[in-house]
Amino acid sequence: KRKIKAALLGLGTVGTGVYKLIHRREDVMERTIGAELEISKILVHDLKKTREGVDASLLTNCWQEILEDEEIQIVIEVMGGIEPARSMILDALHAGKHVVTANKDLVAEYGRELLDAAEEGKCDFLFEAAVAGGIPIIRPLKQCLAGNDISEVIGIVNGTTNYILTKMFEENMSFEEALAKATELGYAEADPTADVEGLDAGRKVAIMASIAFHSRVVFQDVYTEGITKITSADIAYAKEFDSVIKLLGVAHNTESGIEVGVYPMLINKEHPLASVRDSFNAVFVHGDAVDDAMFYGRGAGELPTASAVLGDVIDVARDIEYQCTGRISCTCYKELPIKAFDD
Ligand code: NAP
Ligand code: HSE
Repeated sequence: KRKIKAALLGLGTVGTGVYKLIHRREDVMERTIGAELEISKILVHDLKKTREGVDASLLTNCWQEILEDEEIQIVIEVMGGIEPARSMILDALHAGKHVVTANKDLVAEYGRELLDAAEEGKCDFLFEAAVAGGIPIIRPLKQCLAGNDISEVIGIVNGTTNYILTKMFEENMSFEEALAKATELGYAEADPTADVEGLDAGRKVAIMASIAFHSRVVFQDVYTEGITKITSADIAYAKEFDSVIKLLGVAHNTESGIEVGVYPMLINKEHPLASVRDSFNAVFVHGDAVDDAMFYGRGAGELPTASAVLGDVIDVARDIEYQCTGRISCTCYKELPIKAFDD
């Protein structure tokens, strides 16, 4: 039986989900890919941590061991943060390994550098899980909707803040209690400031805008405002007007430039975005040919995110099997002006 070997970098919420899902789908993997998919090494920080259901002989805290293993063709980065993730991914791509990541911090800031490195080595570099967890949105923007001139991408793209706002509205839960629950459920970032201050959503908006508008939008271009200033008085006021408050990510491609921002907004209960509850996300896309399209699903959490990661891994494995790697990662773009958000 032919085997395609992969290494996991990180075994936290997402890494554990990916490990579980690969084993759960073992029987169909060969049919889907044409070869067996095996996780042959797992990079973690703390080798002493108890990790139920995981083959402990796969664990290592030595990156070189993975990098120098020529049998490993795919690296799945689910550690998070900028460094050492960026250097490891660059090392892997330069060594001809394909990379799948869920790391929006990295893609929003260094996506272009990483895509260039992938293109140079004819490697795949895929990041479906970096935006909106389990919802397919990167591939639709890049491939399925490629025949459109996309002018608008709007949505709820952070599961933690949507969960917090839902609990504050529906159960009068305090902000702190709702955040603690979102963290316990594995939705929040290692530093949840990124969620509640709108930075995580801002990174996702930058990634979506770059792809949708074939341009280069980085996190620093995005206006961000989070949900930390929302008070119980704001919630009572919203209820009085039959509305809810949602944290929206917005990207417009206008004649005078690209406009990107994240901010809380009052939305009438009748609006479809008002019914997006808990950790669910929703993204609206407007294209000149397709008109309006909406994508909805779980935006965070172990298995929904693992679903997006594994979809990418299967795509890479198929590319390896059919000897057409690098095909889906290559991108052309043009620098477009970025408009100040309040222009
Ligand atoms: P997490 O639970 O904090 O797990 C991080 C894992 O990476 C841990 O296993 C940790 O090792 C390992 N790690 C961190 N730094 C390391 C280093 N320097 N060397 C070796 N191992 C290291 O994080 P997560 O929630 O799974 O998120 C992972 C990534 O997915 C992040 O980029 C996040 O933004 C993204 N993401 C998360 C979600 C979600 O719902 N959680 C959804 C979409 C995308 P130890 O176990 O030894 O501590
Ligand atoms: N912390 C992120 C969220 C994880 O809550 O949406 C998914 O990207």
